[in-house]
Amino acid sequence: MSEARSDALVFFGITGDLAYKKIFPALHNMARRGVLDVPVIGVASSDWSIERLRERARASVAEFGGGVDDRAFGLLSDRLQYVRGNYQAAETYTALRAALGSATRPLHYLAIPPSLFTAVVEGLGGAGCTEQARVVVEKPFGRDLASAQALNATLHRQFGESAVFRIDHYLGKEAVQNLLYFRFANAFLEPIWNRHYVENIQITMAESFGVAGRGTFYEETGVIRDVIQNHLLQVVGFLAMEPPTSAYAEAIRDEQAKVLRSIPPLDPAQLVLGQYAGYRDEAGVGPDSSIPTYAAIQLHVESWRWAGVPIFVRAGKHLARTATEVVVEFKAPPRVVFKEALPAMDNYVRFRLGPDVAIAIGASAKRPGEAMDGEATELSLLRRKSADEMDAYERLLGDAMTGDATLFARQDAVEAAWAIVDPLLNRPEQPIAYARGSWGPTDAERLTIGCGGWSNPQ
Ligand code: BG6
Repeated sequence: MSEARSDALVFFGITGDLAYKKIFPALHNMARRGVLDVPVIGVASSDWSIERLRERARASVAEFGGGVDDRAFGLLSDRLQYVRGNYQAAETYTALRAALGSATRPLHYLAIPPSLFTAVVEGLGGAGCTEQARVVVEKPFGRDLASAQALNATLHRQFGESAVFRIDHYLGKEAVQNLLYFRFANAFLEPIWNRHYVENIQITMAESFGVAGRGTFYEETGVIRDVIQNHLLQVVGFLAMEPPTSAYAEAIRDEQAKVLRSIPPLDPAQLVLGQYAGYRDEAGVGPDSSIPTYAAIQLHVESWRWAGVPIFVRAGKHLARTATEVVVEFKAPPRVVFKEALPAMDNYVRFRLGPDVAIAIGASAKRPGEAMDGEATELSLLRRKSADEMDAYERLLGDAMTGDATLFARQDAVEAAWAIVDPLLNRPEQPIAYARGSWGPTDAERLTIGCGGWSNPQ
């Protein structure tokens, strides 16, 4: 596998939701920056004309790409081709090969259900479309550990590991990279970033909206497969990893995999599942669905650095607000020197990962007056309105085209992440119903008893 840049982009599932929300806006931005210099071939089974696909692309950029730039859109539109076909039929791949023309190093992006991966990978191989190609696969990678391994074996029949890019767009987020940067570019954190000083860590991914038209997809996944097994465990990896020995791609991925391997499979007793009111009325959702739209868990990284430090993770749809936040809370001072109680949550580092970006340090200071009374203060180190200067998809597409896998999930890490959540999948208990706009089931409070409760993002 050479490190040469990919010379064509092929999107399977171009008429779908992901292409609409993320891929077209990313391609439009690439065109704007002058780096979209290869053919873009969409593949799907819908009987669409190229004009219809162009209209769809325009609507996508208008809605999710911050508005259409006529010059950039013209460029994207000129590069766009459409191959219509059944994923099971050999002709589809012959037509794709023809559309590729002189391109010999395509990047194939599989934005399709995993059940179609085998047909597509075999079809590509049969038509001579895999030789110097790369392949990008969307998360969730498999449904559990066993299916992730089977999926990997399928991909490896046609692609070497260095040609496989397992996308997890959280890894491409500016704020998530900043987490890693902030940890290792500053010396002051290292002495306290361990079990001696850290009391607990909380990660909240709250969304104030529901499944937003993706009911069918969500019924297949649920919150643990959708965001915990991938996005949030990757964040745990960045928070807990040892310093990588170099900036070499595998050094970071090695440390990431090490963290995930040191988290034991989760205990269902430390799990609270919820489902928002009205989920069962969503299009594509079964009337008795027991798919969770909320989960809260406690996990431990059994390493020298982190043994005994609880890490609380929760994610949910239709919660009180949209915000993804990490709070690393430090232990209280060893003695209460002043009579007045210190406010709870006095010492912490807070990373806001989205939709805005912030890094802040929480501390207590004396309130003016006679009493030695404290008040909570926050030192803001960084505050930005928008999370992503360069959208994660745009960044990751560019990286995959040049063969840089640093910000993609490696198979061993994906498998380790599945092993962690495997005991939580397909639980027999019903998720607890919660009101829209709340912080999820109150039962989740029991997980954080003794640790000051959940810290809700403001
Ligand atoms: C996706 C999930 O991977 O991430 C969605 O499938 C979720 O359910 C989304 O809403 C959140 O991404 P972001 O970048 O908006 O935090």
